[in-house]
Amino acid sequence: MPKAYVFTRYGGPETEALVDLDRPRPGPGEVLVAVRAAGVNPVDWKQRTGYRRPGESGERAFPAVLGNEVAGVVEETGEAVTGFAPGDEVFGTAVAGGYAEYALLAAGITAHKPAPLSFADAATLPVAAATAYDGVRQLALPAGATLLVTGAGGGVGVAVVQIARAGGVRVVGVASEGKKDFLESLGAVHVPSGPDWVEGVRLAAPKGVDGVYDLVGGEVLHEAAGLVRDRSRLITAGAPAEEVERLGGARVARARDAAVLRAVADLVVGGDLDPHVTLTFPLERAGEALREVESGHARGKVVLEIGARA
Ligand SMILES: NC(=O)c1ccc[n+]([C@@H]2O[C@H](COP(=O)([O-])OP(=O)(O)OC[C@H]3O[C@@H](n4cnc5c(N)ncnc54)[C@H](OP(=O)(O)O)[C@@H]3O)[C@@H](O)[C@H]2O)c1
Repeated sequence: MPKAYVFTRYGGPETEALVDLDRPRPGPGEVLVAVRAAGVNPVDWKQRTGYRRPGESGERAFPAVLGNEVAGVVEETGEAVTGFAPGDEVFGTAVAGGYAEYALLAAGITAHKPAPLSFADAATLPVAAATAYDGVRQLALPAGATLLVTGAGGGVGVAVVQIARAGGVRVVGVASEGKKDFLESLGAVHVPSGPDWVEGVRLAAPKGVDGVYDLVGGEVLHEAAGLVRDRSRLITAGAPAEEVERLGGARVARARDAAVLRAVADLVVGGDLDPHVTLTFPLERAGEALREVESGHARGKVVLEIGARA
């Protein structure tokens, strides 16, 4: 029977288990894929603790499969799905978990995987890279402007840095000391996180910054708000909407459509974006993969490689 990595109730890592689960059947608008790679994101463990995305409602059925984004090969399509057929290589947003040998994708947030793109890279695009892309577009900074990115060395941050750089924007990235070389290799000016980071940004951008893309939230978001000239160019993916709106900024508005998936895939194929998959694990070790991300200090992306080698 197919394997899936699930949580059996809301709680901590003790609720997780590798189980046998029936192959899901695609409903209307859904695509069933044989998963080749699944991206691991902070939202995965947050959902395990009971977090709901804004607008998400209804009871979660247990066991619930972890994960939200996958790349794989189409096995079957549901009613009213056009444009996808068995055998197609695709990537997209999983509707009922992604850490599994089979997953259901929402056809509207699924795209064909370009041949040069690996399954592992493709699996990182629907959540992290697409969020980076949506936010950079929302900020709409002109070439030559300076963007501050907090949490710049994580899954979303590495994509924000590269997408902004590709648009000619100067990037100041706040990340731990150990990520200095990594950030610089992406074209960012590195400022170490820690007690003196605000001063570090002031030194790197003496005239202030033109935009902030925050990926940390809390105190870091509040301090970052004091560094941007125009609060309408303060956005976050790492804090609730009310918190950033009180500061005059906004939460990243997610497009959640296939056009964005195609756009980020083109950036990867064109050489402007490398998702930096730094750690891969087999499905059997999904718990270790999630612990890496749950530590809050991931470097680039963590991915599960499932079934045939990605
Ligand atoms: N709204 C959405 O659609 C959406 C989508 C994706 C992600 N998100 C959210 O966005 C946030 C970031 O996601 P992610 O996937 O990039 O997470 P991630 O891969 O875990 O990266 C977070 C990064 O923040 C850094 N960091 C932690 N504390 C910091 C601090 N005080 N100052 C500066 N950097 C710090 C971490 O490493 P170092 O400390 O080692 O530098 C890490 O590299 C999460 O809260 C996630 O849930 C939202």
